[in-house]
Amino acid sequence: MSLMQTGGRGSFITLEGGEGAGKSTQLQVIVEKLKALQIDALATREPGGSPGAETLREILLSGQLKHLGPKAEAILFSAARIDHVDCLIEPALAKGTWVVCDRFLDSTRAYQGALGKLDPRFLSALERVTLGDLLPDLTLILDLPADVGLARAKARRGGAGEADRFEQEDLQFHESLRAAFLAIAKAEPKRCVIIDAQRSQSEVTEAIWAAISDRLLPRLRLVEAERDAGHGA
Ligand SMILES: Nc1ncnc2c1ncn2[C@@H]1O[C@H](COP(=O)(O)OP(=O)(O)OP(=O)(O)O)[C@@H](O)[C@H]1O
Ligand SMILES: [Mg+2]
Repeated sequence: MSLMQTGGRGSFITLEGGEGAGKSTQLQVIVEKLKALQIDALATREPGGSPGAETLREILLSGQLKHLGPKAEAILFSAARIDHVDCLIEPALAKGTWVVCDRFLDSTRAYQGALGKLDPRFLSALERVTLGDLLPDLTLILDLPADVGLARAKARRGGAGEADRFEQEDLQFHESLRAAFLAIAKAEPKRCVIIDAQRSQSEVTEAIWAAISDRLLPRLRLVEAERDAGHGA
């Protein structure tokens, strides 16, 4: 049974937080858990997620365009987001698929907004044209000390290999990033849940799943009830 058959819209979940917080790791687990409940679910990421946006991702994360400054960078992230939303996210949600996205608008707010010191009015205008009415139903903010996250990210690279455009910034940058995500969570408690990401992977998964069950339970119940009633495969 999928929400497609109920005529319902899928839920949109985003994972946010600094480098090495565990977003990509947890994303896969969440999608598998949703699928185990027979919910159509798809994993995606930003920047990227659609072919056009993945091309922009390569350029943005290479650091080639850092010199353009945060304003132009924010516009390019938004251009990638428009393609991702139009080509993948909106069509999926409309047909009842749940979408779980690794980074989304809060990363733009934190990286280009809080750290790039962009005028909040510029960013909210950009959000309006990029997203229209689309907002995540639930945003999980994976929180941990910046040095712990950076150490994880470095270990993931095997200590060698190229750090990306943002991983190369200093510890102060990453501590400010953490504060920016926490401020977003505080300002939007209905949408955001802070997850202590310093714990073991399974404990983090448990906390995430508790948040999903708590916030999105009515939808989960709807899907389960219809499945139990035997409508659909
Ligand atoms: N709870 C955890 N405890 C210890 N290590 C973890 C935990 N979660 C993930 N890791 C490991 O830390 C590294 C970074 O995790 P992951 O790639 O999921 O982070 P991320 O938030 O996606 O980072 P980035 O923002 O850089 O993409 C990986 O090697 C992963 O296996
Ligand atoms: Mg990741």
